[in-house]
Amino acid sequence: MGGRIEAPYFVDREEELARLSYDARTLSQSNVIIAPRRFGKTALLRTVESEVDDEMLVSYVSCLGITSPVEFHDRIVEGILRAFAASHGRGKALLATWRDLLKKPVLGMRDALAEIGGSIEGVGTIRLKFRTREVDTQALMEAALAFPERLAEEQGDQVLMILDEFQALVGLGEMIFPLFKEAMESQKRSIYLLSGSSLRLLHEVFGQEGKSPLYQMVGRLFLGEIDRRAVHRFYRDRLCEVHRVEISDPALDRVTEYVGGIPYYFQKLGVGLERDIVVAGKRRIEAIDVDRAFFQLLDELAGDFQERWETRFSDQQRAVLKVLSGGSMSVTEAARAMEVPPSNISYSLSRLTEAMVLTKEERRYRITDRVFAAWLKDL
Ligand SMILES: Nc1ncnc2c1ncn2[C@@H]1O[C@H](COP(=O)(O)OP(=O)(O)OP(=O)(O)O)[C@@H](O)[C@H]1O
Ligand SMILES: [Mg+2]
Repeated sequence: MGGRIEAPYFVDREEELARLSYDARTLSQSNVIIAPRRFGKTALLRTVESEVDDEMLVSYVSCLGITSPVEFHDRIVEGILRAFAASHGRGKALLATWRDLLKKPVLGMRDALAEIGGSIEGVGTIRLKFRTREVDTQALMEAALAFPERLAEEQGDQVLMILDEFQALVGLGEMIFPLFKEAMESQKRSIYLLSGSSLRLLHEVFGQEGKSPLYQMVGRLFLGEIDRRAVHRFYRDRLCEVHRVEISDPALDRVTEYVGGIPYYFQKLGVGLERDIVVAGKRRIEAIDVDRAFFQLLDELAGDFQERWETRFSDQQRAVLKVLSGGSMSVTEAARAMEVPPSNISYSLSRLTEAMVLTKEERRYRITDRVFAAWLKDL
């Protein structure tokens, strides 16, 4: 999910963007962005990338679907070579050679590496030794993490390593996180920008003194919903600029009543309204138009929601979610509504909160995804 959104359509997040770009550019601090699904992590990472990529090498890697140390290695190496190719002419040939290299038989790979030399020969040699079982997975992953720094040294450059959905690396085993710690501590030219959508990960990997492998290694940045006024401004400007159409104040309020400041949904709802404008030749958007577009959106998302509902939650979690679909509640209120003692549901509440499915504010819980909540309410 999530592509690059160019400037006028990237809404708000100015402070976050400035801070993250500054930290990257000056190599002053690695960061992790924490936000629920669909709150705009990837878009923010990509925007930081485009802010700084004319000054340093920026490698973007999504950790989703990385299931083995070899994949980890190859994606990290590819990511940085791709960045290098984007900024240096010579890089393109190297990237092509690297891809080609992996397909070669052992002997061919050895010769080709010797010819390339430098940091690529270094990382390629470990990769080769892994093929011939002379090194283990740990050494392979270590080599991958050391490579961007080496390449940067050689080129007199700096590196920003972006790792989206960092929590997905858990599948590689516990030792992956200490490897990151080692890399972060020893590297002088590289800085890391991570994202995650699990408070549990945050706590386990970053949060506990004496226990978490990356304790105090990175700054943490929580992304909330986008400010309502910024969403309103975005709607007004875009509808005016692109379609010469006005939107009434009640209609704007209706938009944020339905979708809040969740980027994924305000973008999707906006697309629906634009379709209406073009198809029905509308000159002005009123609240009732927003209602219609929102019901269409719910329809469109029903399949996804149904699937989420059936596959992600335990029976008790479903019961808790159903009760909370009406609005926020304290533990006591939710327990009363479910006619069970509060101790029965506290475990579900904390698991759902750790996964950011629920948001806890001032001792009250609500469903983070407002649109999912609206769908659930009518189920
Ligand atoms: N600041 C923003 N302004 C405008 N649109 C945005 C903004 N941030 C994200 N979006 C849009 O919202 C959608 C969801 O954003 P994105 O994919 O970045 O979220 P995410 O947190 O990475 O979600 P996921 O958990 O699905 O990976 C995308 O279509 C993106 O274009
Ligand atoms: Mg994403």
